[in-house]
Amino acid sequence: MKKVYIETYGCQMNVADTEVIFSLLSKHGYERTEDMSEADVIMANTCSVRDNAEQRILGRIEVFNQQKKKRPEVLVGILGCMAERLKSELLATGKVDIVAGPDAYRSLPVLLQNAAPGMPQINVQLSREETYADIKPVRLDTNGVSAFISIMRGCNNVCSYCVVPYTRGAERSRDFHSIVREACECAEAGYREVTLLGQNVDSYSYEDCSFARLLQMVAEACPGMRVRFSTSNPQDISDEVLQVMASHANICHHIHLPVQSGSNRILEKMRRRYTREWYLERVAAIRRYMPDCAISTDVIAGFCSETEEDHQDTLSLFREVGFDAAYMFYYSERPGTLAARKYPDDVPQEVKNRRLEEIIALQNSLSLESNRRDVGKRFEVLVEGPSKRDPSALCGRAGNNKMFVWPDTEHKSGDLVEVEVLDCTQATLLARLVKQL
Ligand code: SAH
Ligand code: SF4
Ligand code: F3S
Repeated sequence: MKKVYIETYGCQMNVADTEVIFSLLSKHGYERTEDMSEADVIMANTCSVRDNAEQRILGRIEVFNQQKKKRPEVLVGILGCMAERLKSELLATGKVDIVAGPDAYRSLPVLLQNAAPGMPQINVQLSREETYADIKPVRLDTNGVSAFISIMRGCNNVCSYCVVPYTRGAERSRDFHSIVREACECAEAGYREVTLLGQNVDSYSYEDCSFARLLQMVAEACPGMRVRFSTSNPQDISDEVLQVMASHANICHHIHLPVQSGSNRILEKMRRRYTREWYLERVAAIRRYMPDCAISTDVIAGFCSETEEDHQDTLSLFREVGFDAAYMFYYSERPGTLAARKYPDDVPQEVKNRRLEEIIALQNSLSLESNRRDVGKRFEVLVEGPSKRDPSALCGRAGNNKMFVWPDTEHKSGDLVEVEVLDCTQATLLARLVKQL
């Protein structure tokens, strides 16, 4: 058996892909190791979404090559989005033996077999059909509590700032039979939560099955399992999905709804196909169906031509919605995207940083307010494991995706318990145990 070590960067989709890769390789005489120094093959599954994500990988390639210096037979591989974006440029560094894009993982055993120091191998062919539907992933979550299930690949929305459609190719939906089967297998293996993954889950469509229907099927096939999903695009999130969420107790009341900007002028330049007003109406619809539904978002500060007024529109939208959580970034120009070709990246870095800091400061206070509203309430929490700070306490998440910590030495990861919130910080709800469920 040869040993393979893989580091995974980027989004949850990459985590799910790494699980597929381990599965594919295990059928060809490779086993997983978590220790780079004993690995025959060292790979990174990479992300291209922002420049700093790529810079980090370039640093890792140097680290991997230190292993190669000690053991020249070691093979170094770059997988995923950065492999797809940079292609043979990565081979030209002389530091990489394998380059495989997101749709080329079935060829990895052959690439590895043919590769040797000085004989690099590459496959960055994108596909219109590949969904790895038949591959049973080797789960990386060693707690055995929460599993990711990819329901679609690629993206057909050409948001002007975004590299994903270029690195992941055209959108395609996976056969719903294989998705429901995988969810049931997770339940049988003891998992308590699945997250259905896609860049735009509401455009899932396989034969006549919509995302709302798929969500319903998964929730009903595995009644003891919590069901989550990500990501919802504001332009496509439908009332049917909200109805299905509201009427199934095991679907978590949390929606990740990336807004990107609060300014209609910027949204149009970003090629997001909704307005601020449309976004606010979707938030109102979510709250109509599920008053307790948590809403999180993504935002980009300092996109091309963004003025102070546009930025204020983003801040006011954050206040108006009162997000429970947010992932916040400054704009990073990605080569080859529409924005890179059409618009100058003209907001100075200091201004991007300052605007980002203002958004973060505002969100920190909104997160604290959101947590304060939960003090005194009771929640069903899925135990993830011991708290990092206090070994006599456990931590876990409720359906709203917030992190809870409570003193508890009786329960273990995978248990479902009821807790009551006593206090909070901006990041965590401090609770007491009420009972096991
Ligand atoms: N499919 C998801 C987003 C996937 S990328 C959606 O449409 O919402 C995750 C997040 O990275 C995006 O929501 C966006 O906020 C951020 N992002 C993407 N491209 C970026 C760029 N060029 N610079 C900064 N942030 C970016
Ligand atoms: Fe990128 Fe837009 Fe597709 Fe999301 S929907 S992955 S932001 S192109
Ligand atoms: Fe995900 Fe990064 Fe690729 S966010 S889709 S790994 S560019």
